[in-house]
Amino acid sequence: MDQVRVGVIGLGMGFSHARTLASGRIKGARLSAICDLSPAKQEEARETLPSDVKIWSDTGAMISSGEIDAVIIATPHYAHPQVAIECLNHGLHVLIEKPAGVYTKQVREMNRAAEASGKVFSIMYNQRCNPLYKKLKELIADGELGEIRRMNWIITNWYRSQSYYDSGGWRATWAGEGGGVLINQSPHQLDLWQWTTGMMPKRIRAFCAFGKYRNIEVEDDVTAYAEYENGATAVFITTTGEAPGTNRYEVTGDRGKIVIEDGKLTFWRLRVPEPEFNRQFTGGFGEPECWKCEVPIWGDNPHHSGIIQNFADAILHGTPLIAPGEEGIHGLTLSNAMHLSTWTDNWVDLPLNEDLYYEMLQERITHSSAQKTVKEIGAVDMSKTFGSY
Ligand SMILES: NC(=O)c1ccc[n+]([C@@H]2O[C@H](COP(=O)([O-])OP(=O)(O)OC[C@H]3O[C@@H](n4cnc5c(N)ncnc54)[C@H](O)[C@@H]3O)[C@@H](O)[C@H]2O)c1
Repeated sequence: MDQVRVGVIGLGMGFSHARTLASGRIKGARLSAICDLSPAKQEEARETLPSDVKIWSDTGAMISSGEIDAVIIATPHYAHPQVAIECLNHGLHVLIEKPAGVYTKQVREMNRAAEASGKVFSIMYNQRCNPLYKKLKELIADGELGEIRRMNWIITNWYRSQSYYDSGGWRATWAGEGGGVLINQSPHQLDLWQWTTGMMPKRIRAFCAFGKYRNIEVEDDVTAYAEYENGATAVFITTTGEAPGTNRYEVTGDRGKIVIEDGKLTFWRLRVPEPEFNRQFTGGFGEPECWKCEVPIWGDNPHHSGIIQNFADAILHGTPLIAPGEEGIHGLTLSNAMHLSTWTDNWVDLPLNEDLYYEMLQERITHSSAQKTVKEIGAVDMSKTFGSY
């Protein structure tokens, strides 16, 4: 194979991926087909995409057509694992949109199918292409921060108005979406948080507020506290109801502190590690000498195209994936744990009690107002959804 024939399933955000592929910008891949259940989306695809792109309304038929080698799945979240499993079982390479799914039990099943298939399986964690977070990950892995002690992420610039929530029947309902800001907007940060540090908490206590700022049944405001095996702690704060919002990610280790904010990475670097200073210092008041460094950040941020190009390269040349699909379960575990802690009004130990989460989610789905009235807001500029760098 010298060119991967890609089918895109779901044409909201998926339209943007379809256009990227149709533009010829992805080396070694081309858009062969799209599939959407909505006749209006099919029509839009017919009018705006190249005429040789086949338009499908039936996902199963496209998957078994033999006319594609790979898919990008950009349906609402619940369907990601279900459609991915079907594709993998048909021998297709799969790139799913984030989040990996809504609950980890379902995602675990998808991961098993991916492993059994031997196909390339990736997830659209496009923010892993951001050189700021790549640099942070590299500095931590190289030991520049020493032992991690504290992580604080305030990610409150995912502003969403009521009209956004009203624009899609599936949005912000337990039955349709399976959560709010944790499952839709913040999965990027829930991924980066553990990807950059290589650390998952041992337990989480969270406080989610449901419909605090908007008329929705799911969470739109979250404060979570996490504890780690090595004694480190973290606070994660997110909301869609605040303006102006903040995006500040701070990681402190025993050799200093790194802050990512306003597109910059600042390293407050201790001359000697804090424990060493403490052992030697006899002067009463005083603290370790510290140098503030603006760390130069090199390289472009290819955003979503970077993940799609990497997916094609992995299929054609075995290039290692930036965001292996199997890793989607980590961020989702954090999100599920935050819901569960709120629902049980208690600490949640990891590994997560996945059966209990599933059971409590089902209770909410049973009482969900999934069939809400949709108010059309016209054409939407999907680039506005990326937000928050
Ligand atoms: N990575 C990012 O930056 C990013 C940005 C936006 C959305 N997303 C993700 O993309 C996914 C879709 O979100 P959206 O905002 O585009 O939603 P959307 O409602 O705008 O679009 C979803 C589309 O999928 C279609 N669809 C639903 N079920 C289908 C099925 N079984 N087969 C074929 N088509 C189907 C719908 O008709 C609709 O056109 C979500 O999981 C979301 O988290 C990711």
